Amino acid sequence: MFKAVLFDLDGVITDTAEYHFLAWEKLAKSIGITIDREFNENLKGVSREESLRRILAHGGRETDFSATEFADMAKRKNDNYVDMIQQVSPSDVYPGILQLLQDLRENDVKIALASASKNGPFLLKQMNLTDYFDAIADPAKVAENKPAPDIFIAAAEGVGVDVTQTIGIEDAYSGIAAIKSAYAVPIGVGSHEVLGDDIALVNETSQLTFAYLQEVWEDYKK
Ligand code: BG6
Ligand code: MG
Repeated sequence: MFKAVLFDLDGVITDTAEYHFLAWEKLAKSIGITIDREFNENLKGVSREESLRRILAHGGRETDFSATEFADMAKRKNDNYVDMIQQVSPSDVYPGILQLLQDLRENDVKIALASASKNGPFLLKQMNLTDYFDAIADPAKVAENKPAPDIFIAAAEGVGVDVTQTIGIEDAYSGIAAIKSAYAVPIGVGSHEVLGDDIALVNETSQLTFAYLQEVWEDYKK
């Protein structure tokens, strides 16, 4: 049996992936760059700074800004995002997630957060979920961001479990790649077109039951 579950947050626990998109869309528009939801798939799971680099490259403006202007744009995006997430509450937790967290606890499976977001701890608090988490990996302390495995390895270390004995849950292509390179067992939330057809996948978080996780684990370890 798996010993821990390592959760991504944005797009797995709640719909904040959409707020990240809206905040980036607004920032991009302010400098004359248009981004759409298809392009946004490249930003999911990616750090704040790398997201901005990708947006500037998308608009052909990667050399147009000084380091100070770059930092100011990243801050403007985050300020707008932080405004949006003040409203997040326990009713915003995606279907099935609370039940899964409860079932994991009852079965002595450790729970850790492996989110690239520096706003993760605040969001868990807003949703009344902090107490379920045995560890929150700090994205500011890892050497490399997703798709590197670092944040998943740090999350597993945080709960004292070898990462190969864990399941990672992700909605982002970069996140699935990170789980694979950490040698954890991946479960995707989303579509095969985005996340690949070689992993276990659910369309909706309500399908993320404890029984489903056990099934995936057993299949994977066969
Ligand atoms: C990830 C999101 O979880 O966190 C990305 O999928 C986001 O979209 C990244 O850029 C960093 O988040 P933050 O809140 O620290 O800017
Ligand atoms: Mg995500």
